Amino acid sequence: MPARIIGTGSYLPQRAVSNKELEKWVDTTDEWIRERTGIEQRHLAEQETTTSMAVEAALAAIRDAQIEAKEIDLIIVGTVSADMCFPSTACQVQSLIGADCAVAFDINAACAGFLFGLSIAQAYMQAGMAQTALVIGGETLSKMMDWQDRSTCVLFGDGAGAALVRKQERGIISLVQGSEGKRGMALTCQNRPVNNPLVKNDTALDHTRMDGREVYHFAVKTVPKAIENAMEKAGVASGEIKYFLLHQANLRIIESVAKKLGQPMEKFPTNLQKCGNISAGSVPVLLDHVNRSGMLQRGDKIVLAGFGAGLTWGAAVVEW
Ligand code: UT7
Repeated sequence: MPARIIGTGSYLPQRAVSNKELEKWVDTTDEWIRERTGIEQRHLAEQETTTSMAVEAALAAIRDAQIEAKEIDLIIVGTVSADMCFPSTACQVQSLIGADCAVAFDINAACAGFLFGLSIAQAYMQAGMAQTALVIGGETLSKMMDWQDRSTCVLFGDGAGAALVRKQERGIISLVQGSEGKRGMALTCQNRPVNNPLVKNDTALDHTRMDGREVYHFAVKTVPKAIENAMEKAGVASGEIKYFLLHQANLRIIESVAKKLGQPMEKFPTNLQKCGNISAGSVPVLLDHVNRSGMLQRGDKIVLAGFGAGLTWGAAVVEW
């Protein structure tokens, strides 16, 4: 029994920061960032938190789907930048939107978080454990950056996206997921180290570290294969796909995937120019932007694909 996306929403922090502005903070140039990544600006949180952005995205999705929060029976938030270790972001969202009948939890699959959340939601529906799920990807990555490290801090942005998913006859046609923990050290952020009466440790909190080339090679090799697997599983040819909505890490990665799939770039909408890389928020924010621009008609087939730390990846073929 498939599940259908019945509404989307997103939220970006009020404050946009251009590449030019970044030049004042770190040894970089607008030209380098545009040429190597395609990014022109990103939104950075000031008043916003991961929870507040997830709530705004959720409320927008609820309005879009025209349902009541009480109809939601499952909330999954993909995030690596929760405001608190516990309670989960999902439980805070549940409380703030009044989704009192939902079971709520967070997952960590980094930039594949939204795709992993969709998979879990669909599995719950197949098992008869949920009817209406709210799947959110949201991040405040700016708090996890080393603002002296130009190889990472220029790439990421803050924001959240949400989708409401309902058990229905048509909708998500196929989902594939994968993980390769052996290569996980390519993209890391250390949590608090052991620190107790037995082990004294006052190391400062870690920041995001990335072997950009390693992750780049992983992405251009793994993502086309994952998409091909998802399309094969769905019995859908690439020519039948209207849009491929990929994780917005780097325009060059998206161009490479388009080339490998033999599809024109017009089928690959992007918003990384304005948003940067929002990790788990990337795919749902783009999905919402595409949905709200009126680019999707009922029955259109689209591909969603996320990839990143773990290393993890996921791809889905969805009938709108
Ligand atoms: O969301 C998770 C998934 N993440 C990704 O998919 C990211 C994948 N990786 C990438 O997108 C690219 O590898 C990057 C955009 C991160 C880097 O691009 P690159 O073409 O691989 O550059 P590089 O790391 O090889 O660095 C090239 C040069 C270096 O200088 P030298 O050693 O050639 O003199 C860097 O020091 O560019 C320098 N550099 C910068 N220069 C100006 C690195 N970052 C910057 C910067 N501004 N921000």
